[in-house]
Amino acid sequence: MTKTETYQTLLPQIEALTAGETDIIAKMANVAAALHEAFGFWWTGFYRVTNEGKSELVLGPFQGPIACTRIPYGKGVCGTAWQRQETIIVPNVHEFAGHIACSSASNSEIVVPIMRDGHVIAVLDIDSTDFNTFDATDKAYLEQIVKCI
Ligand code: SME
Repeated sequence: MTKTETYQTLLPQIEALTAGETDIIAKMANVAAALHEAFGFWWTGFYRVTNEGKSELVLGPFQGPIACTRIPYGKGVCGTAWQRQETIIVPNVHEFAGHIACSSASNSEIVVPIMRDGHVIAVLDIDSTDFNTFDATDKAYLEQIVKCI
């Protein structure tokens, strides 16, 4: 299957999986698992903006190796996507100034913000051990997928 075909198969499954569920953690957990299984990414998961009054993202549901638990606003790829309120595709993480290396095995990354009422409430972060893994196709489908959260 091509990447597009995999996303086209996955999207209705994720829509069905999340429909009717109100708990955001439960939805994030299944979306992370579905994406991770379908593509075999290195790390697939969520960081959430919490209401602790701090400008930090906190680790949420994920699949893959252990990861850093907190990322400040504007830091790393995740904190930068939060600040810019837009998806960031990083073809080579070693060339992204301020990239936070949770794992030395990661070589490329995509971070997709999840918006609610004009604010970022969380980000979806996916890491690959290959360079140049993510492109406009991933951006388009992942931006649709996070709307299910
Ligand atoms: N690389 C991310 C940190 C999270 S881990 O990749 C799971 C970043 O620079 O924000």
